[in-house]
Amino acid sequence: MTRGKIIGTGSFVPERILSNDELQLIVDTSDEWIIRRTGIKERRIASKVKDESTADLATQAGLKAIEMAGVTSSDLDMVIVGTVTPDRQFPSAGCMIQSKIGAFKAAAFDVSAGCSGFLYGLTMAHNAIKAETAELILVLGVERLSTIVNWQDRSTCVLLGDGAGAVVLSASGNGRGIMSTHLQSDGTFWDLLYSSYERSLLPQSLECIDLKPFQLKMEGNRLFKRAVGCLSEIASRALRQNNLSSKDISIVIPHQANIRIIMAMAENLGIPMEKVYTNLDRYGNTSSASIPIALDEANRQGLLKDGDLVLMASFGAGLTWGAAIIEWAAC
Ligand code: UT7
Repeated sequence: MTRGKIIGTGSFVPERILSNDELQLIVDTSDEWIIRRTGIKERRIASKVKDESTADLATQAGLKAIEMAGVTSSDLDMVIVGTVTPDRQFPSAGCMIQSKIGAFKAAAFDVSAGCSGFLYGLTMAHNAIKAETAELILVLGVERLSTIVNWQDRSTCVLLGDGAGAVVLSASGNGRGIMSTHLQSDGTFWDLLYSSYERSLLPQSLECIDLKPFQLKMEGNRLFKRAVGCLSEIASRALRQNNLSSKDISIVIPHQANIRIIMAMAENLGIPMEKVYTNLDRYGNTSSASIPIALDEANRQGLLKDGDLVLMASFGAGLTWGAAIIEWAAC
């Protein structure tokens, strides 16, 4: 059966590094606390003057993936973007990126699924390829979380960063590719992680200006526990559906929210940390972008070999969570 195969990966992060030491000057925190509780040492922050809008970051990542894939933008059938920080409410980041890369025959749109946006987008792309409604798709995860962070809230501002990652998905030639994807959400717990911007308030009263719209709110501790449970459960489900055991997995590319969440998930699955790719020490939590950035880095470092089984797992606002298993074809 035709399935989606990744034939190119790309990523791009802003130039500006914000270290834990610098954050100590902004909020009551310490390098020691941030590393011990999260594993994060620094993150990247986008700058408008350096042309690092959401669409700019994604365009850079997308062009790298397209170059590796050896295709041209004008051949793309779809551009799907996982993001919660598009540059504008509308049009979509997808359409802005489409214009920048010249993907003129593509259908372009965004997927809002918190930190699971990339896996949600990848699933839609894989399904479109299986249904033979598309042959070549650019899937991106991109965020400028620095634009919605409350820089006075130490419990969240130390966690997040900006960046973009991308893959080009094509119909599989030799049968290798995405084996399965799995998605789930539970809106009951939406208030564990959300943006305080509430659109319906805006026309009614100017008082809403005091609400500091767009700020991110999080109940970290309760979210932490759910993250470990949901990630472990959906990764196990993905293994079961493919009659695989955790020993069959060559490498895990998890969402990069907190090193303790990743370690707990790996322990629950019985996968040693040597098989888990992490880069959150350098980028923090980049939401939708974290999996495709990590995948691209692992790919470019030669860590992904032909036939390797790659497990990806995400968890985020919504709540949303997801997993995918890929039989890797070298690109
Ligand atoms: O990507 C989407 C999914 N995201 C997640 O799943 C994130 C999940 N949550 C987490 O990663 C963790 O809960 C955090 C890193 C956010 C927080 O770690 P924690 O171990 O759960 O700490 P806590 O919230 O229980 O706070 C412990 C203490 C508190 O002080 P008291 O009440 O014990 O005196 C906080 O005020 O740590 C304090 N604290 C800080 N101290 C120094 C919170 N943030 C900081 C900080 N620096 N930046």
